[in-house]
Amino acid sequence: MKAKPAKNASFVQESSEWVRKPKKMDANLQDYFKAYKNFSWKNVEKEFDWHKTKKVNIVHEMIDRHAAGVRKNKVALYFWDPTSTSFHPQGRDEKYTFLDLKNLSSRFGNVLKKNQIKKKDRIAVFLPRTPELYISILGIHRIGAIPVPLFEAFMEAAIEDRLSNSEANTIVTTPELLSRIPFSKLPHLKHLVFVGQTSGTNTSYGLPPTVRIHHYYEEMKSASNYLEPAWLGVDDGLVIHYTSGSTGRSKGVLHRQYAMVGHFQTSKWALDLKEEDVYWCTADPGWVTGTSYGIYGPWTMGISSVVLGGRFAVERWYEAIEKYQVSVWYSAPTAFRMLMAHGKEIPARHHLKSLRHICSVGEPLNPEALRWIREITGLAPHETWWMTETGMHIICNYRSLDFKIGAMGRPFPGTYATVVDDKGKELPPNTLGNLVVKTPWPGMMKEIWGNPAKYKEYFRIKGWYLSGDTAYRDKEGFLWFAGRADDVIKTAGERVGPFEVESALVQHPAVAEAGVIGKPDELRGHIIKAFISLRSGFTPSDILKKEISEFVRKNMAAHAAPREIEFCEKVPKTRSGKIMRRVLRAWDQGIPVGDISTMEE
Ligand code: WT7
Repeated sequence: MKAKPAKNASFVQESSEWVRKPKKMDANLQDYFKAYKNFSWKNVEKEFDWHKTKKVNIVHEMIDRHAAGVRKNKVALYFWDPTSTSFHPQGRDEKYTFLDLKNLSSRFGNVLKKNQIKKKDRIAVFLPRTPELYISILGIHRIGAIPVPLFEAFMEAAIEDRLSNSEANTIVTTPELLSRIPFSKLPHLKHLVFVGQTSGTNTSYGLPPTVRIHHYYEEMKSASNYLEPAWLGVDDGLVIHYTSGSTGRSKGVLHRQYAMVGHFQTSKWALDLKEEDVYWCTADPGWVTGTSYGIYGPWTMGISSVVLGGRFAVERWYEAIEKYQVSVWYSAPTAFRMLMAHGKEIPARHHLKSLRHICSVGEPLNPEALRWIREITGLAPHETWWMTETGMHIICNYRSLDFKIGAMGRPFPGTYATVVDDKGKELPPNTLGNLVVKTPWPGMMKEIWGNPAKYKEYFRIKGWYLSGDTAYRDKEGFLWFAGRADDVIKTAGERVGPFEVESALVQHPAVAEAGVIGKPDELRGHIIKAFISLRSGFTPSDILKKEISEFVRKNMAAHAAPREIEFCEKVPKTRSGKIMRRVLRAWDQGIPVGDISTMEE
């Protein structure tokens, strides 16, 4: 993971455009520099009941303690999905208080418990964004099991990878998603919890006799509202999120219960959440933002959260802000750019003045998108930088602090992020290097599930977590994102490993070899581009390109399908057989290839 040398130093731009803040602000974090100096995570631990009781379970801190106190009847979850389905012909428009979520998650916990599903078991949750998704995750926490949220768009190969690696014994899903789960290849999978109208049997669904079917709505009806959380320790598992690296299959990133300390404090100071807020995190819990900041952060703070179901729809996003009077909004550059692409007329039709703070994550927030959002809302989005592996914000811009447009921000109090060379030596300002985080911090991943060697790779420079990003720090202490040091692709904010796409591509009968890169794109940050050499007997054509791309879409996931395919004679490889993506990137940009002395033949 070598930082690319700063041949062309033009990205080391001393941007002079600042976002200035008023002297007096009602922000939770008043003085960043003072807080940074005096910070201690030990003090944050006092915010939790487990600090006194020594009994740990995040569901108690998120739900039960609020349900037992003044927030009992406060809305925890507003859910809206106007899409009509056969099950909900009028769409859905619902709200759940903290007490409702206590009862429902207890019921779901009881359903699991009754079937001998227990502490530490992995339970896959493969559901669209619905209240049942949130209730399932809470119920899983209640019994001390570990949820494995799976993004709704995943197809069979992606599901198989994640379920076989996590050895999940239970999956919660809908009849619509069932056909994507290859039960016969997943011997550990013993329970299927069906959310929806179903009456089938193992035979009618083609399931092995070893799988037991449970009907969510039926079971929930008769389950009890009472179930004490299973008590855990701070080091016990919290959640597994699968994410991609530049080599190999997706990795299961396991977090610990202790991460709640980080979720809480960053939600308080970076998202600036307050008691009376209506908060909307647009991320799906299939990705870490959707759990850390769609569930754990806001609910440990007792904040009302909005969840919008259904597909991305420009006008509905503005409608949601207006309908719920959203005050804090956490979203992503890709979403901002998509809204921007649809112009100002639509937002002009909606009242957006309830907003008081906006944050952004996932990829660099380009200044044009920032300015556009500022024009329509009066607020500049604040960057947050972090990763699945960091579990929580590490670098942020803060509501009360001036920042430079384009910079990721400054390390969160209690963490230290910086730029080092390949030996771990800190680099002077404006020098490109590896972005690292000093170990440990509360959200730091606990394990790569079943792969200790992969885990170690992140920590190979002693004392540091190696992010895989390249960055530099300016003289004022702002950290600036430069790129990835590896071949990981960020497309529309989602992380895709080239190896996984290549593996899917070569399953297609026409494909002999495939090499995959990210190609810069205005809307999506990067798109996935595949270079493909064909087997003999196949002729390049646009139809074949479409067919191959569709093949990946159907096998893996829509966001992983190449949007661009180029046929080539041979995919360039090193003598040891590694795909030379550097060469592919040069081909794509039409620039000289550089040193290819390690290339085969
Ligand atoms: C990668 C991590 C955990 C949040 C969702 C993404 C990129 C993230 C920023 C930012 C520039 C960013 C990095 C990072 N990234 N935030 N503010 N500016 N790049 O989590 O899917 O694990 O991806 O997203 O490249 O390594 P993820």
